[in-house]
Amino acid sequence: MKILITGGAGFIGANFVHYWLRKNPQDEIVNLDTLTYAGNLENLKSIENNKKHRFIKGNICDTPFINDLFKKENFNLVVHFAAESHVDRSVLDSSDFVKTNVEGTMNLLDAAKNNGGIRFHHVSTDEVFGALSSEDAAFNEKTPYDPRSPYSASKAASDHLVRAYFHTHKLPITISNCSNNYGPFQFPEKLIPLFVTNLVEGKKIPVYGTGENIRDWIHVDDHNRGVEMIIKNGTIGETYCLGGAAERKNIDITKEILSIMGKGEEEIEYVADRKGHDLRYAIDFSKATAELGWKPQIDFEKGITMTVEWYQDNENWWKKIKSGEYQEYYKKQYNK
Ligand code: NAD
Ligand code: TYD
Repeated sequence: MKILITGGAGFIGANFVHYWLRKNPQDEIVNLDTLTYAGNLENLKSIENNKKHRFIKGNICDTPFINDLFKKENFNLVVHFAAESHVDRSVLDSSDFVKTNVEGTMNLLDAAKNNGGIRFHHVSTDEVFGALSSEDAAFNEKTPYDPRSPYSASKAASDHLVRAYFHTHKLPITISNCSNNYGPFQFPEKLIPLFVTNLVEGKKIPVYGTGENIRDWIHVDDHNRGVEMIIKNGTIGETYCLGGAAERKNIDITKEILSIMGKGEEEIEYVADRKGHDLRYAIDFSKATAELGWKPQIDFEKGITMTVEWYQDNENWWKKIKSGEYQEYYKKQYNK
């Protein structure tokens, strides 16, 4: 099989490339990524001599380039991770979110449609479903869409387009809506890597509001195993919710990180809350279990410990990132 993976230099995409090459060494991967601030070739360093993996720098919004690529390469499968992915950035400026997440996805769908109807898996988020109260039942595949940030609105639009190409053009698609991922290679602007790296650097850790917001955390390898199972055994046209069965308040995750790193609560700095901060996300993944036999395997307490250690052991990886473009973003975020 020849597979196009988009966004394969980012956090989940790079982990997926490594995962797929380990599990399916006979397949050929073309990894397309435009290397925004979040894309990093260092994430792919260990496979730079692997003949089954080819990196192409290119933008999914560049329609002629995408059309040429699809004509030339004869892909059997597209796995679409490329996106603008950080909620706080979408609060500062939505335009790249609409461009990449909506228009970029449409370009890929058109190219898949126009080149024989290529199998297309779209990687999406639970944030399209909106926010839950602490009593609400978890999201499932039938939950109505109610996105509330520019990020989740752009992802919701992309999900609708993907489904529309199935109904209108019979494009063989599947979609996964997954909860908050954690693991190696996550850009240190997201909660877990930001807090771990700040603590290593001797900086405070910024908890938004009072830290009562709840997320469901999944290890990136569990997510990617779910994506693989959907690609191989999922029903065409269907959506699958994937989650980690690990709902945690931000303040509890914060205390867990502090405890793993042997630090005290005086390292916490309570800062202004995110605008429109969704209270709670939670996922009911019983459809994926019933149809595919999927469920998360990495226990959160083990996973978070492994992940903290990864960032402690890989300072070279994140130090470069944190000293570059991130500084500009940080200044805007905190008006400093
Ligand atoms: P990320 O920001 O770490 O990586 C995104 C990658 O896409 C980067 O390498 C970037 O360079 C690339 N990219 C961005 N715009 C592009 C463009 N126009 N053309 C080509 N490449 C482009 O994001 P991530 O956390 O790895 O998320 C990957 C996917 O998974 C996204 O679609 C996201 O919505 C989804 N998702 C993420 C989470 C999470 O917790 N991180 C949870 C559920 C779903
Ligand atoms: P994040 O990792 O940005 O993921 P998402 O917003 O997509 O869920 O944030 C996870 C939670 O942590 C979210 O409730 C916001 C909160 N948060 C903080 O309290 N401080 C921070 O510095 C960041 C980045 C996030």
